Amino acid sequence: MPKLASYNGKVDSIENIKVSPMSRAFLFSDSVYEVISFYKKKFIDFETHLDRLKHSLNETKISCSIEDCKTEIVKLLNESKFEDGYIYYQVSRGVDSIRSHFFEESDCERFGFIEEFSFFNQSPLKVMLVDDIRWQRCDIKSTSLLGNVLQMNDAKSIGCNEILMHKNGELTEGGASNIFFVKNKTIFTPELSPNILPGITRHQVIKIIKDKKLNFEEGSYRIDDLKEASSIWFTSTTKGILGVEEIVNLETKINTECELLEICKNAFVKRYFS
Ligand code: PDD
Repeated sequence: MPKLASYNGKVDSIENIKVSPMSRAFLFSDSVYEVISFYKKKFIDFETHLDRLKHSLNETKISCSIEDCKTEIVKLLNESKFEDGYIYYQVSRGVDSIRSHFFEESDCERFGFIEEFSFFNQSPLKVMLVDDIRWQRCDIKSTSLLGNVLQMNDAKSIGCNEILMHKNGELTEGGASNIFFVKNKTIFTPELSPNILPGITRHQVIKIIKDKKLNFEEGSYRIDDLKEASSIWFTSTTKGILGVEEIVNLETKINTECELLEICKNAFVKRYFS
């Protein structure tokens, strides 16, 4: 079945959508995006995703009506037969008449597609610890993901399906996820900063941890903290909460059986997927 997509408000099969090579998304990766999941035809935390999209648009000075984005994302879901899945949606600064770093006044360009996806039964992750080589505004959900892409593919070549990044030894996040770890029965996660994406799932998990009154700290952590961790989790819209079974290039004490992980996972499924 052809994939359903939306381009500047028009929903069509993805094969029928034609994009200009002068799009700043194509030339400069001058665009921001969201990945929003839905379950039983209902979006999960839709407004929070729209707020983050608004933040990304503001910080990159791309002018675009968030109401148009909302209408188009809803339309894509309504016109699709999929019950469970996610919508990828990006907004670029627009299409230039000549390629120039200096942008012109132009209409933004909006593109999204819908994908069917099952959120359950995902296997624990095998990850590689890598240097965080990205830019200094990772709080913006930009499509400029070359740092993540290069490091994730190096990790894939040695059998990993995620990376765990650090900047000079300080832990930041995964290639497409936020990170949590457990040490001495306390759950830790790197605090929000321009170096990490404020993940929606991260926020959902923190709410659960606080509701359940589990020991929790947000702060600045180092590779040495991981060596002592009994469990490491990655969170994202498409992963939910997933445990790590191995960091291939770091000796750890991690165990995939973790009571705190089970408590959080069960509460997460109950809250968002039932
Ligand atoms: N990625 N950090 C990075 C670098 C990410 O790319 C993502 C999500 C997250 C988790 O954010 P959230 O919980 O809001 O999904 C953290 C999406 C899923 C992607 O690029 O496919």
